[in-house]
Amino acid sequence: MTRTIVLAGASGYGATYLREIAELEARELVRLVGLCDLHPLNADAHKQFGDRPFDTRLDRLLAETCPDLAIVATPIHTHLPLSRQVLNAGSHLLLEKPPAPSAAEWHEILTLSQQRNLSCQVGFQSLGSGAYARLAELIATGRLGEVRGIGCYGAWSRDTAYYQRAAWAGRRELNGVPVADGALTNPFAHAVATALALDRSTGWDDIADLDTELLRVRDIQVDDTSCLRLKTGRGTVITVAVTLAAQTPSEPVIVVHGTRGRAELHYTRDLLVLDGKPEDHGRTSPLQNLLAHLDEGAPLQCDIAACGAFTRVLEHINATPAPRLIGEHWLAHEGDGPRARIYIPGVEEAVRASAEQLATFAELAEPWAV
Ligand SMILES: NC(=O)c1ccc[n+]([C@@H]2O[C@H](COP(=O)([O-])OP(=O)(O)OC[C@H]3O[C@@H](n4cnc5c(N)ncnc54)[C@H](O)[C@@H]3O)[C@@H](O)[C@H]2O)c1
Repeated sequence: MTRTIVLAGASGYGATYLREIAELEARELVRLVGLCDLHPLNADAHKQFGDRPFDTRLDRLLAETCPDLAIVATPIHTHLPLSRQVLNAGSHLLLEKPPAPSAAEWHEILTLSQQRNLSCQVGFQSLGSGAYARLAELIATGRLGEVRGIGCYGAWSRDTAYYQRAAWAGRRELNGVPVADGALTNPFAHAVATALALDRSTGWDDIADLDTELLRVRDIQVDDTSCLRLKTGRGTVITVAVTLAAQTPSEPVIVVHGTRGRAELHYTRDLLVLDGKPEDHGRTSPLQNLLAHLDEGAPLQCDIAACGAFTRVLEHINATPAPRLIGEHWLAHEGDGPRARIYIPGVEEAVRASAEQLATFAELAEPWAV
């Protein structure tokens, strides 16, 4: 069956969807019936989809095209208003992560999708990885023994251009509305959501205890170097230690510490390392999974209802005092202009130690964190 689609947000991350839609169109699985953006299509998008209806207003485009589903890949603070338009138009929704910048907004999208009996998939693509599915099964069947804890670490680097690319980048709020673009709630949101899903603790009430250390190296409103530690209702300790101020970036890893085994999920690479042995897996994208859900009743990888615990972490961060600026003494600088990078020497070891020991930066006595 060919499903009709509208895409809101045609550049930035939306370009990934355009590539996927082109592939799915070639297989006659979908038909893109409209594009919505505040700005005209860039040259690539225009070459590919310049013949399709385009509008700067999603509600108007939805009324004109009546798609089976709409993808919202726009800035976080636009998710609620655009999701409302999609669901009120009677279309299923694929919403980019994080689903919303506050608990109230997440709850409104969830409630509306339930009232309208429409599916709402959230774009946490790590949950469609075969490596994630295999690890979840190993945990559920007891292959790793009792899970003592789940530690995640991530060390990326973001230059000045990253924060200059959009008005909402690095913001807690913009013009009075929440944005929540911190390291834990946006760039490393997959780590938080995936760790919670591995523990089968995705509901709002599944978190028993929660604490964060939020730091920053730049003149921004949000954390760029952060440690989260929480305990789930099952008693599992989950830590997530991440930075966007690494000297030597590497892909994030989720370490599951079991009494009978150890597993590492490299969620951006679909790689599972089980007791030292690597296994490569494939993945099903959020869009393909949503199509399978609509056509064959496959379970959604990430129903918006399963973002409760994640949203509770986000809401906790929203309510935490603004992140503390790390002293210049602990920082190093490289390059200038848009390519300028700031890094914390040794932060790569710190985030990894947090995941191995399930410890916070303060407990590790990282000097820049205390
Ligand atoms: N799943 C992932 O791995 C991943 C990666 C990057 C970004 N994202 C998410 O994708 C979303 C978009 O991020 P981005 O960095 O591409 O944002 P962006 O600021 O680059 O905006 C994307 C597009 O949305 C358009 N847009 C903005 N407001 C709009 C509106 N009201 N109506 C229609 N179009 C509008 C912009 O003009 C732009 O073309 C965010 O939720 C982000 O967290 C997900």
